[in-house]
This record gives sequence, C-alpha cells and structure tokens, in this order.
Amino acid sequence: MLVNAKNMLDAAEAGHYAVGAFNTNDLEWCKSILQAAQETNSPVIVQCSMSAATYQTGYKTVSDLVHSVYKAMDITVPVALHLDHGTYEACLACIDAGFTSVMYDGSHEDSFETNLSKTKELVKICHNKGVSIEAEVGSIGGTEDGVTGTGECADPEECATIAETGVDFLAAGIGNIHGLYPVNWEGLRFDVLEAIKAKTGDLPLVLHGGTGIPDDQIKKAINLGIAKINVNTELQVAFCDATVAYIEAKKHEAEKGFDPRKLLKDGAQAIVDKTAEKIELFGSDNKGWA
Ligand code: 13P
Repeated sequence: MLVNAKNMLDAAEAGHYAVGAFNTNDLEWCKSILQAAQETNSPVIVQCSMSAATYQTGYKTVSDLVHSVYKAMDITVPVALHLDHGTYEACLACIDAGFTSVMYDGSHEDSFETNLSKTKELVKICHNKGVSIEAEVGSIGGTEDGVTGTGECADPEECATIAETGVDFLAAGIGNIHGLYPVNWEGLRFDVLEAIKAKTGDLPLVLHGGTGIPDDQIKKAINLGIAKINVNTELQVAFCDATVAYIEAKKHEAEKGFDPRKLLKDGAQAIVDKTAEKIELFGSDNKGWA
C-alpha cells in the first residue's frame, strides 16, 4: 500500500533529515525512483506535476502506474504519491484518482486570503480521506508548468497563519527557484528560514528547486527544519546526458540498439544513481521504516 506523506515527514523533521520528492514523467522515472529508494532503504515521495500527468494521459494513469509498479517491484519502503503544484481542482481530481498526497499551490491566487480559505477547505477534504496536503506561501522562482515565480521570500506571519489550517507540510520561498540557478544567484535566505521555523514549530518545511543548490546549503537547510526536498531538473539532466552518451557512442547502431528497452536503459540507470545520491545527501537512507 502507498502511504500518505505525513508520518515520513514528521519523522524526518524530528530526526533532522529530509525525504526526497522526485518528479516522475513516465514508467522509466517511476521504476528508477522506486528502485533507488528500495536499494537505499529510504522513504520516498514520487510526485507528479499537472503537465507531467497530462503527458501521461491523466491522473488515473499516473496513479495506476505508480501503484502497480510499487506492487510488482515488491517495494517495502514507505512510498507516497504526491501531486506537485496543483490547483484546487487538480487536488480534488488526484484525491479521486488515488494519490495519497497533494500540494495545493495557492501562491498564484489573487490574494493571500484566497490562498488561505482554499487551503482550509482542502485540508478538511484531504484529512477526511487520509490524504496529506502541502501548502505554499511566497512563490518559488523560475518557471514550472508555464508559471514563472520571482523567487520572493515568504512572510513568516503568513506561514504561521497557513500552518494553523492544519496543513501537513509547508513550502515557503526562501530565495530558491525551480530549474538551474543563474550564476549570480545569492543562495538560500537562512535568516528567512529561521524566522519561518520559529513561527511554525514542528511543521515539516519543504524546499522546492532542489536542483543545483550546493550540498552545504542543503545540509544547513535540513538542520534548520527542511524535511522535504523537491528534485526534478537534475533527474532530467542525468537521464538526458546518459541517453546522449549512448547515441554518441553509436550504441543504437549496434545489434538492436534501437530497441527502446536498450535505448533508455542507461538513462534509466542514471536516474537511479542520481536519486540514490540525493537520498544519501538528504540523510533519509536507512530510514525505510519511517
Ligand atoms: P527543480 O526542477 O529545480 O529540481 O525543482 C523541482 C521542484 O521544486 C518541483 O516542485
């Protein structure tokens, strides 16, 4: 059975490590992320954006795929299936489709009050169904699903207000952005993270835009209360580099090298390796009971 993400993130917050939330795109991603989690004995969150779900023909397909692969691979570590950056309507659709966790991203609503009231409604709906829910305050920079955020820092008072809705974990902008970081990026705002933590107590905090943040900043963020770290772009780059290398080495011209099971094999293994590397950096390896 897939689980929701509440217990694994509460354990991470208390134990000063973080659980990786890795974005899935298709069967290769799903298999590789689960393989890495099982091999490192780590809890894991497989997450899917709205557009990656559309690519895979819908939320039900994603849910059926992840549930089936989890069973077929005899995975024993805790796994949550999470919607990444969902609208209100997408959250409802994912709950119906069998996701065990959702993120309602109300940071693009017309006001904080709208974000707050919709978060409140969804917390009730999710908790009635045993689904965990992540909220967001302060938009994360970069572009994701066509929405560009400026990387603003979250207001700690607003974080405290959202925390009171009973959300299970909270994404708060601290200078992080999605995708690759520009060379002039000034780094994470640890002063803002500390202020948010002081206002939100033991609520697990989420760091989006995990790609490209230097390891020492990742470790410091975990020490200051980050319990979930999202990684997407880095897995895509790892997959792409390995696939390009396969073709540059002309392996596709060798005996049946064009067979997709061969063509995608090195890329899939690169996802396994990169996911395992992140799990070890985040310190969730050997916490497969959490
Ligand atoms: P990156 O693509 O920068 O790793 O960000 C992933 C993310 O935050 C998904 O919500």
